[in-house]
Amino acid sequence: MIVTTDQLFKHAYGKYALGAYNINNAEQTMGLFRGCIESQAPFIIQISKGARSYTDKRMLEAIIRAAAEIFPEAIFAVHLDHGDEQTCYECIASGFFSSVMIDASHDPFAENVAITKRVVAAAHAKGISVEAELGMLGGVEEDIKVEEGNACLTDPAEAEDFIRQTGCDSLACAIGTSHGAFKFKGRQSLHFDVLEKIKARVPGFPLVMHGSSSVPKEEVDRINAAGGTIKDSMGVDVNEYLPAAKLGVTKINIDTDGRLVWTRVHREFFRDKAGEFDFRPPGKIFMAEYAKFIASRNRLLGSAGQLADLRKSLGK
Ligand code: G3H
Ligand code: 13P
Ligand code: ZN
Repeated sequence: MIVTTDQLFKHAYGKYALGAYNINNAEQTMGLFRGCIESQAPFIIQISKGARSYTDKRMLEAIIRAAAEIFPEAIFAVHLDHGDEQTCYECIASGFFSSVMIDASHDPFAENVAITKRVVAAAHAKGISVEAELGMLGGVEEDIKVEEGNACLTDPAEAEDFIRQTGCDSLACAIGTSHGAFKFKGRQSLHFDVLEKIKARVPGFPLVMHGSSSVPKEEVDRINAAGGTIKDSMGVDVNEYLPAAKLGVTKINIDTDGRLVWTRVHREFFRDKAGEFDFRPPGKIFMAEYAKFIASRNRLLGSAGQLADLRKSLGK
């Protein structure tokens, strides 16, 4: 069942974080739903611009609708990840999205406010909520590469002002993470001090953490042992998810880790079965392994086991 992102946030705020997982194809979607049902967790499906153009945006929507039928127990929202203004308008008009993200964080503050306000007006007119971003994560986002030195943490006073001026419904904050597999050099902790200050200024307001993959060492080691060359990778400590959730982080974005599961499964499969050319056997392994991974993440986020209570609170 597709619900609004607001409904999920209301249930989760301050108690647990919703896993926000990107999807690109049918196998990833099957693994995601299986993992969320197995762990009895609500979740957020994220669709990036790249995912919309990978096959065709209509294909992704059809896959999600099919998954909702195959797994009638599932409760989830559908969200545009890192949208530009035009893509936000397209998704708002489609009638398929629960929420959109407008990412104008690379623009100056006033410009970010102006763009976000326009998207909020269009989205709210259709009952859709808006995630905005303030501060800059390091690493690579779809079209923009932010050098690590240029990444800047969200300023708590600016965050309060930005939320008030834009009317956005949730805010992606830069608290030390970055996208991709190479997040940290040496020090490896979230900036809880910044989070605490933001929460103190906007109590009850849902915050979002991007770049939250943990980049498990054992996963990377297996990839490299099977021919990969992923060096010096480092991710977020999974034991920091729940403490962040208690400080108002209600949505935690995880994508890279799923790509690592895919890479490990396929590298190991074709290393061990060099004569194989049917894509379904590794595809089946991937779906099972991805489901296992998703369930493990939901347990760490605290969203596992929340389905029954959420269903009751939604009156369904
Ligand atoms: O933050 C970006 C997400 O990991 C989605 O990646 O834009 O390559 O689909 P993508
Ligand atoms: P990771 O690259 O850490 O998985 O972050 C994903 C993300 O933030 C999607 O918006
Ligand atoms: Zn992101």
